[in-house]
Amino acid sequence: MKALGRRELIEAYLSFFESKGHVRIPSAPLIPENDPTVLFTTAGMHPLVPFLLGQPHPLGKRLCNVQKCLRTDDIEKVGDEFHHTFFEMLGNWSLGDYFKKEAIEWSFEFLTKVLEIPVEKLAVSCFAGNKDIERDEESAKIWQQLGIDKERIAFLGMKENWWGPVGKTGPCGPDTEMFVYVGKGKPHGNPGENPEDWCEIWNDVFMQYYKDENGNYTELEQKNVDTGMGVERVVAILNGFQDNYMTEIFQPIIKKLEELSKKKYGESEQDTRAMRIIADHLRAAVFVLSEGIAPGNKEQGYVLRRLIRRAIRFAHMLGIKENFTTSIAEIIIEQYEQDYGELSKNRNFIMEELSKEENRFRNVLEKGLRLFEKTIKQLKEEGKTEIDGKTAFLLYQSYGFPVEMTEELAKEQGMQVNMHEFEQEYKRHQELSRTATAGKFKSGLADMSEQAKKLHTATHLLHAALRKVLGEHVQQKGSNITAERLRFDFKLVNEKIQEGLPVRREEMTLEEAKKRGALAFFEHKYGDKVSVYFIGEPGKEFSIEVCAGPHVSNTRELGKFKIVKEESVAAGVRRIKAVLE
Ligand code: ALA
Repeated sequence: MKALGRRELIEAYLSFFESKGHVRIPSAPLIPENDPTVLFTTAGMHPLVPFLLGQPHPLGKRLCNVQKCLRTDDIEKVGDEFHHTFFEMLGNWSLGDYFKKEAIEWSFEFLTKVLEIPVEKLAVSCFAGNKDIERDEESAKIWQQLGIDKERIAFLGMKENWWGPVGKTGPCGPDTEMFVYVGKGKPHGNPGENPEDWCEIWNDVFMQYYKDENGNYTELEQKNVDTGMGVERVVAILNGFQDNYMTEIFQPIIKKLEELSKKKYGESEQDTRAMRIIADHLRAAVFVLSEGIAPGNKEQGYVLRRLIRRAIRFAHMLGIKENFTTSIAEIIIEQYEQDYGELSKNRNFIMEELSKEENRFRNVLEKGLRLFEKTIKQLKEEGKTEIDGKTAFLLYQSYGFPVEMTEELAKEQGMQVNMHEFEQEYKRHQELSRTATAGKFKSGLADMSEQAKKLHTATHLLHAALRKVLGEHVQQKGSNITAERLRFDFKLVNEKIQEGLPVRREEMTLEEAKKRGALAFFEHKYGDKVSVYFIGEPGKEFSIEVCAGPHVSNTRELGKFKIVKEESVAAGVRRIKAVLE
């Protein structure tokens, strides 16, 4: 095996696929540009979905890249040898070009010729088939012809050998995974028989199907190949480590943590785990920050906050009592800035936000931990095992403990948090603060001109039209809109104007409004009661939306709707400029 480092592996991979006619494309942002249904880019194929669905890619049908990815589903598993939140994924794609044969042959060639992994150390898995989809004998046969022993081929089910779709619907298909033997003695068995001895390093996905809302699979007209190889894991394997954190990728951070904590990596299980969590989470945090996201209470900002605060809590456990996150960020930026320019470009923002967040949290962490310990002691005395929602909320609200952190701390003590109560408490609080601020927004639209009023109603029609044409995921910000589709939407808006639909207003709670299918884009701005505007005959409304108003009383008043410009204004956000004539 060739003991390649991170950059050498990336270079070897991308030039290999270039030699097979692929074009290198840059890594897309971690914050998806065109997909508000997920918070982060989780795989190299993710930014390519429109092309996997048939839109021609300007660089052709064979692409490859290294993609920065973030997955948060396993955040609590981080701490062992190989789980990460942030990681880099190498991938090559065929957009309706080559399929199983070439993909597998090139995977085999790269593994055995370029990385020089002995063939007897390799094993693969293929899809076993189910009632809907046939067993993937085709892939297994190709592997066998290349020299993979029959005994090294495992046929596994949906959970192991099926990929996608990323969301509820989308491209998906069977995959074939490649494994390297990491067990003792001579390689034996396969990933189905003795999975603990086999480490997965690469996945070739054959996008053969499209899954629709009803769960039906239809054969894709354009069949694609999508592959993914985790950089961290492969570097570890090539260098003989079973622990990704022992590689050059993480060692500079680990060394710094050893220095700060005066503890040794690998000595105690608890400290080792803490160092891994800190290294992983801060690397992820630095990359999220580099895209302009700041820690906050919602969406990406909340995940970022959790990552940073969890890292700080574990640093606190290690005995690191001084602010340290920026010193780790320095190391990470230095390591990656050559490949990801946004790191140096946003260095100040990264550093400032990290230290602000660390200051904020350090101020309350010890007090919060004391409150937590007191609570636990009391509960134990009472023979209880559940932390009530009010305490969890107090820890969240006054001591900045993300509730997931309280849950984790509780678990360490064999306890749990009453999440139902926590949520109720959270909601109650939100309602109180909404009522308090509602007054501020009441007069915002008081002096609207007639024209603005019309445009306002037209905007509701456009939202509804976009969602009908492009799907429910369209929000007032974010979607992938092409000129062609827009023409279609604008036709639909004009149709609705001509139909002369009545516009009526009703007052209700936000909850009721949502129950009745109303769109509500600016939740934080609403008070106790909201106005809901219905456009269309009762029961057949074309649009229902929460809004302060005012609006016209009939769509006919709008005249002609025309889109004059459609542009990208930020990652994942497009602006549509329209006029009424
Ligand atoms: N998209 C595939 C994966 O994530 C390659 O494994």
